Amino acid sequence: MRVLMTGAAGHIGGVLRDKLAGRYDLLRLSDVVDMPSTGPGEEFVKAELSDMADVRTAIEGMDAVVHLGAIPSEDSWEKILPANIVGTYNVFEAAREAGARRIVFASSNHAIGFYRRDHTIDDQVPQRPDTRYGLSKAFGEDIGSLYVDKHGFDVMAMRIGSFQPEPQDARQLSTWLSYGDMARLVTTGLEAPSLGMAIVYGISRNTRSWWDNRRAFELGYDPQDNAEDFADRLLAADPPEPGGRVAHTLQGGIFPEMEYGGDPDRL
Ligand SMILES: NC(=O)c1ccc[n+]([C@@H]2O[C@H](COP(=O)([O-])OP(=O)(O)OC[C@H]3O[C@@H](n4cnc5c(N)ncnc54)[C@H](O)[C@@H]3O)[C@@H](O)[C@H]2O)c1
Repeated sequence: MRVLMTGAAGHIGGVLRDKLAGRYDLLRLSDVVDMPSTGPGEEFVKAELSDMADVRTAIEGMDAVVHLGAIPSEDSWEKILPANIVGTYNVFEAAREAGARRIVFASSNHAIGFYRRDHTIDDQVPQRPDTRYGLSKAFGEDIGSLYVDKHGFDVMAMRIGSFQPEPQDARQLSTWLSYGDMARLVTTGLEAPSLGMAIVYGISRNTRSWWDNRRAFELGYDPQDNAEDFADRLLAADPPEPGGRVAHTLQGGIFPEMEYGGDPDRL
């Protein structure tokens, strides 16, 4: 399998390069910034995601895409629109043209960040984006659905929680995704015989998860880490996590709290 990874110069890309080394026939790395070096089995194609010609060049000859490239947090509409929305459209459409019909998309928990923490949700619930950033991830899931239904793609949208070497605060006892489990989830998305449109949660096997990840487990995802191992230290911190009452009520944390002017009890 020949795999294109967009956003390959970033945090997740760097970890995946290391963990996937040698696993596929070719790992083509792409990013808008230059990458200092490539290893065996890797090559680099520089591409700006909002430029369709660039994306076509990056995808040519590939069988599958791990689409990580994006503005990775809340930002202005002027930045989110070209990178995350136009860029994701370009990736799907160029993949269709090139015959690369499998895409593993880095969605986010911020596509569903307005759900309350006392409500466990699965892969079937309607999206509740919490920011412009979350809206762009909801768009990525929706274009995945369109290309599955219309063009027979296999798509895994990973609603990634918090990708860190170790959980950083009390919220991440629920949302943490370890480095090793990220690699396990991405390889599941690339190698499961058939995905259809699979929405999965990008989290480790966390005891305090708010997310029912049965779709990922059905596909073969077998996470090995659990944020609970860090609970005593994280719960003893003062404060245990950033933000106020809205952030502490809602799954998206400080993202839904930004700009929110209402009473959290109405949510
Ligand atoms: N890290 C997390 O906890 C987390 C959580 C949820 C979702 N995600 C998603 O996972 C993906 C990777 O996240 P990350 O933490 O590695 O972020 P990152 O910022 O470290 O990496 C993103 C990469 O995308 C590239 N990029 C940005 N705009 C681009 C453009 N217009 N054209 C080409 N390349 C562009 C950047 O240069 C960067 O190298 C993102 O889509 C992010 O939204 C991450």
